[in-house]
Amino acid sequence: MENLKQKAAEEAVKYIESGMVVGLGTGSTVYYALLKISELIKAGKLVNIVGIPSSGKTEKLATELEIPLTDFMKHKSIDITIDGADEVDKYLNLIKGGGGALLREKVLAQASKRLIIIVDESKVSSKLGEKWAVPVEVIKFAYPLEMEFIKSLAGKPQLRMYENLNEPVLTDEGNYIIDANFGVIKNPFELAAKLENRAGIVEHGIFINLTSEVIVAYKDGVKKIKKK
Ligand code: 5RP
Repeated sequence: MENLKQKAAEEAVKYIESGMVVGLGTGSTVYYALLKISELIKAGKLVNIVGIPSSGKTEKLATELEIPLTDFMKHKSIDITIDGADEVDKYLNLIKGGGGALLREKVLAQASKRLIIIVDESKVSSKLGEKWAVPVEVIKFAYPLEMEFIKSLAGKPQLRMYENLNEPVLTDEGNYIIDANFGVIKNPFELAAKLENRAGIVEHGIFINLTSEVIVAYKDGVKKIKKK
């Protein structure tokens, strides 16, 4: 699987050109993209690249790899963002947030001229929700109410906890995450709208109409799926 993640990531990095502002996603697949970008910068094959990281983790990693970073104060638009996903459907809609960075990732996605999603074949599904719960970022104050709200939408909510600590996971913005299992989602637009209308919910991991293309690494080769 690691090998597939690397193949998808390296294919995506081919679209980065010198001088670009690059959105840097989060996760174990994006890790390989960061390695490749760093290698190309060090070899002088990519120059004047600046990255905008989507999480504290990516910021740390990019800094270690000597990828120059910038922010939205200096750049209001991103040329290409490369990010992973937890689930991808045939319309290129996504579930994201397995790594807890969905809020900043969505901010990057909406600021990007081109969003390239990199996944291995295990992430492709015919309908969102088949494989993954929807991460929902909520303010701490409201989380017990948001758990009930998710139940009222026929979801099964679970507050995300750190593996070895009896404490809820905190996002980079200091919020909690509820993993909301809705099973197969019949209408992602409708569910997204309901979550967006609810006070206390900051963001959710359903990404609709944001993706330009998905690069999927299958065991027998890499395929690019473009938006129709
Ligand atoms: C983080 C994300 C990640 O992109 C997603 O969880 C995929 O991660 P990985 O490449 O490690 O499977 O949305 O918030």
